Amino acid sequence: MSVVLREISPNIRSIRPPRYTALSVRAAQIREELRQGVKKPYTELIDVTWGDPQGAGLKPLTFARQVLAACLYPKLLNNERLPADVRQRAEGLLHECHGGSVGSYTDLPGIPQVARQISEFISRRDGGVPSDPDHILISPGSQWALQNILSVLVRGGGGVRSGVLTPQPSYSLSVMSVVGLGGVPVPYQLWEEQGWEVQVEELNRALESAEGECDPVALYVINPGNPSGHVQRRESIQDVIKFASEKRLFLLADEVYQDCIYKENIEFLSYKRVLAEMGPPFCDTVELASFHSASKGLLGECGFRGGYVELVNMDPAVMKHVFTIFSKDNAPTPGQIALSVMASPPQPGDPSYPLYRTEKQQMQTLIKDNVRKVHEVLNSLPGVSSHPVEGGAFAFPRIDLPPKAIQKAKDLGMEPDIFYCLRLLEDAGLFFTPGCEYGQKDGTYHVRFCIMVTKDTMDDLLTRLAAHHTQFMNDFS
Ligand SMILES: Cc1ncc(COP(=O)(O)O)c(C=O)c1O
Repeated sequence: MSVVLREISPNIRSIRPPRYTALSVRAAQIREELRQGVKKPYTELIDVTWGDPQGAGLKPLTFARQVLAACLYPKLLNNERLPADVRQRAEGLLHECHGGSVGSYTDLPGIPQVARQISEFISRRDGGVPSDPDHILISPGSQWALQNILSVLVRGGGGVRSGVLTPQPSYSLSVMSVVGLGGVPVPYQLWEEQGWEVQVEELNRALESAEGECDPVALYVINPGNPSGHVQRRESIQDVIKFASEKRLFLLADEVYQDCIYKENIEFLSYKRVLAEMGPPFCDTVELASFHSASKGLLGECGFRGGYVELVNMDPAVMKHVFTIFSKDNAPTPGQIALSVMASPPQPGDPSYPLYRTEKQQMQTLIKDNVRKVHEVLNSLPGVSSHPVEGGAFAFPRIDLPPKAIQKAKDLGMEPDIFYCLRLLEDAGLFFTPGCEYGQKDGTYHVRFCIMVTKDTMDDLLTRLAAHHTQFMNDFS
């Protein structure tokens, strides 16, 4: 049988490919040209399109890799060169694996000890708010978990389709998941002038705009924001919870960047914690799914694919179905081990603690330095404005493009920020993504780039960006 386009699911057909495909194609060609020795003003392409710390050259945490190594190759359990707490941790984890091997299928949906460690981590993080390990579902990455929770919430085919309120700008894969299930993304604009805050009036406007179009069932938030870099404060989270409660929307809190907070005097507050601390009627009625991942933050183990969702106030009858869906596929064992390390890192007194603390501090210092430099350079460039990156993995500056550049892009049949990124790629060897990929207010243009890179990469990136941008603005003034 051969599949023809018109026969594939209309939902799948309606997923639009990334807007910056042309950029990716050109980036691959440039890499090849550089490999073949073609002369360019740069010798290396800097690709900062992904939130992938290790892909950008940052080193993994030693404790994480030692535990993983000992689990994968148990002969290391007898090797005294590995710290005793590493060997103990690996032994404990292997004990929970069937046949004592990471090569076996794990329990569904996840190794019970890891779910317990995650629930203890959540409770510690949330100032003692209880967390039930039975409400934690481990998955092959948090995006898989989101996609599968959405599959329970969203009705796609026939009749009125479900709507999901999604931020604009937003992580595009989540919007893609809604579309792929036949749901309707209902964008709410984040308030750029106020550092990309969520506004309740805007949530109301978005909800009203959905009337007659779809049946809104859920509200998706990303905190800390991707690409916005904004960290929500307690009052803002409370407002969103009240809104979700009043409008009977299921809250989907994507909190994968919770470990990445750079602004002084603010802390990450989870939706789960704020909800619990609001007390009745909210704490026991608002339905919430909170997502986290081993891919992000200081751990940055994207490749191992470990994520989880914690469910709060979900009807037990619905939860049974969710468990069934999550039991279709278990997370790779190394991803679950990475989650164990994330949830239960070395503590003071443990042999691995001093090195773990040093590596963590070095990484935090590096990223904070990057954030400071990015802010200084961006705001010194003509036509560029950027809020300080408070958290997350990305800078998302606004570029006020000159009318001649906008016209040139239109002549080429391109979005203006794609044109800007293409010139940046071609002339400066910097691979950024355009704001149109994430959604932005009409008439505004942005670019996104990852700030979790080495010092040398960041210095090089900012030097190239400053020179290129100045030239670009001159060319089109
Ligand atoms: C907001 C957000 N959520 C989820 C993910 C995916 O995380 P995971 O690797 O756990 O699937 C990303 C990845 O960049 C992200 O930015």
